[in-house]
Amino acid sequence: MNYFEAFSEIAAELEEIEDRGQVAAYIPELSHVDPDKFGIHLTTVKNQQYFLGDSNTKFSIQSISKVLALTLARGLEENYLWDRVGVEPSGSPFNSLVQLEYEQGIPRNPLINAGALVVCDVLIGSLKNPQQEFIEFVRILAGDPDIGYCPRVAKSERLTGHKNAAMINLIKSYGNINHDIDLVLDFYCDLCSVEMSCKQLAQAFLFLATNGTNPLTGKEVVSVSRSKRINAIMQLCGFYDEAGEFAFKVGLPGKSGVGGGIIAIHPGKYSIAVWSPRLNAKGNSFKGMKFLELFTTRIGSSIF
Ligand code: DON
Repeated sequence: MNYFEAFSEIAAELEEIEDRGQVAAYIPELSHVDPDKFGIHLTTVKNQQYFLGDSNTKFSIQSISKVLALTLARGLEENYLWDRVGVEPSGSPFNSLVQLEYEQGIPRNPLINAGALVVCDVLIGSLKNPQQEFIEFVRILAGDPDIGYCPRVAKSERLTGHKNAAMINLIKSYGNINHDIDLVLDFYCDLCSVEMSCKQLAQAFLFLATNGTNPLTGKEVVSVSRSKRINAIMQLCGFYDEAGEFAFKVGLPGKSGVGGGIIAIHPGKYSIAVWSPRLNAKGNSFKGMKFLELFTTRIGSSIF
């Protein structure tokens, strides 16, 4: 299938729709992005590439990195992650604290902030140099050494992320954080600050379309079963209190970030990354969601 035609037609249609989203400004450094950027990159399991717009421009991937952190944690020795984090959709905003008290410091899933903080704690306990090993892991998945953290964004979030600080203190009060809170928050903010392009993201996530194998190296990233489970968690939890809407309209497992990026996977077929910085009220890219809805509908292909 020539996806390029669908890309151009949908992009033209989207120009007619008013983008009612707002760029994330609660992390001050993120507010400097050009709100009108728009990029798409699709990589098939047969290594065909389709792209449009600003697909080669790097942006802050933010929560998209939570999937990669989870993947790295699941690829490690058994670390009893599922005793410490659930696999249920939260139905709450990504930075919500409310369920944590009811559920005694066990976050609903690894893709909300609370769950990702626990995953960071696990990685700190398992890796010698978590910052370095995580970024090396992402570079290998993307087949591109030109990927790194953005210290400005990480610092900006570290200085203003009072809600995440409250959250990790609450989780630690229930005994579900083993390491120093500052150490975990530093690592969490670094993970969120990773900058990648749509092209790099599509390649880095392709292992979830190929049953857990990195198509570039032929090596197993995670087992077939873990790949299935990571896709399932993305489907149920990747868009927080909008996960149902994304499944309903797009019909692919995916994950968003407040930098305006979305990654979505069609297992067995392709991975697709979309970037448009203006976010809807739930913190997901307004145009990115709309694009993917029109795309899977137009080509008549979703997992359902
Ligand atoms: O912790 C935060 O608030 C951000 N670093 C990440 C949030 C995010 O990307 C939510 N996604 N839509």
